Amino acid sequence: MAVQEIVPGIYSIGVRDWDRKLFDELIPLPDGTSYNSYLVKGSEKTVVIDSVDPTKCNEWLANLDRLNIEHIDYIVSHHAEQDHSGSIPNLLARFPKAKVVTIEKCREFLQDLLLIPSEQFLVIKDGETLSLGDRTIEFIFTPWVHWPETMCTYIKEDKMLFSCDFFGSHMATSHLFVPDDHKVIEDAKRYFAEIMMPFRTTIKKNIEKLLAREIGYIAPSHGPVYDKPNIIIDAYNSWVSDKVENMAVLAYVSMHGSTQIMADYLTNALMSRGVNVKVFNLTRADLGDLAMFLVDSATVILGTSTVLTGPHPAAVYASTLINALRPRLKYVALFGSFGWGGRTVEIIKNSLSNLKVELFEPILAKGHPKESDFQKLDHLADEIAARHRDLKNQ
Ligand code: FEO
Repeated sequence: MAVQEIVPGIYSIGVRDWDRKLFDELIPLPDGTSYNSYLVKGSEKTVVIDSVDPTKCNEWLANLDRLNIEHIDYIVSHHAEQDHSGSIPNLLARFPKAKVVTIEKCREFLQDLLLIPSEQFLVIKDGETLSLGDRTIEFIFTPWVHWPETMCTYIKEDKMLFSCDFFGSHMATSHLFVPDDHKVIEDAKRYFAEIMMPFRTTIKKNIEKLLAREIGYIAPSHGPVYDKPNIIIDAYNSWVSDKVENMAVLAYVSMHGSTQIMADYLTNALMSRGVNVKVFNLTRADLGDLAMFLVDSATVILGTSTVLTGPHPAAVYASTLINALRPRLKYVALFGSFGWGGRTVEIIKNSLSNLKVELFEPILAKGHPKESDFQKLDHLADEIAARHRDLKNQ
């Protein structure tokens, strides 16, 4: 528990979750996370920006006590997901006259999720402002970052942007400001890959909208505050661009070794042709790591054994996740082995329906791969290497 002053009158009052290992029961959190909340004191009004995950509510309220806050006028809710909104009812119980300030869509979600009564809201529109006396909060609607109701706020007197999930990183650190650019950008990239990547196009537009302002600080709702905001803005601009790198993600699962032999052969064939490869064994891969490599990769290659009549469930899980994350991939390849038949190609193809990619001719070996299979893998490596060489001209 801690209260940290960002600038005079603006405090970070959120909570670190050092032990959290999984988010949404899906996303691995190797560095924990934080649920950031901010208190802004104006000469006339006091505002709390976002709350914290309900599991950390008591710690958060204790932070408010440390500041001896006796009155809160507004609670700004940027986003209805419960890691930021879930403790708002507890704050309202303590400060019943406070108004929850948000846009219409978020009001609807907050009522659905948290049963907050409608008279408790002050609904604002994109571009509206709210005076705190010597400070003014501007509300900036930034939809689909990563829910339809997400927004940011900006205080021009402090050049401070409160961005909620946008630009965030799952990182628990005692530092208020980014302590290590490289590490934070790595965690922010993982966060982008897992949460934001499906919304690249809208994110690009929202970055442009935000950059119409002079930004000195970005205070997100996960991870440390950026006092050099360009590091994360530049990173996001790179991640949402259409540019991919000479990188292939090769993710495979092998039951009795045949698919493993093909994975090893293809990895070496690609490397010897100058293609960078990141290999994941899907039975023990960190899928957050895999997602992070998808941000820049031009190609995904899936390898699978055949279980009964279809792909191994680990391969289906991975292809379903890749399809949901909608990375900016250009090429997909599929290989594996089978005993007596199956619908592997059809099932994997159908599971990747969101992706606008070129699918190379699948290579399925009957049992142990034979010379003809290795020739096909060499040909596939030739094709991938040629496509990647052409990336420079795109
Ligand atoms: Fe950090 Fe979308 O919640």
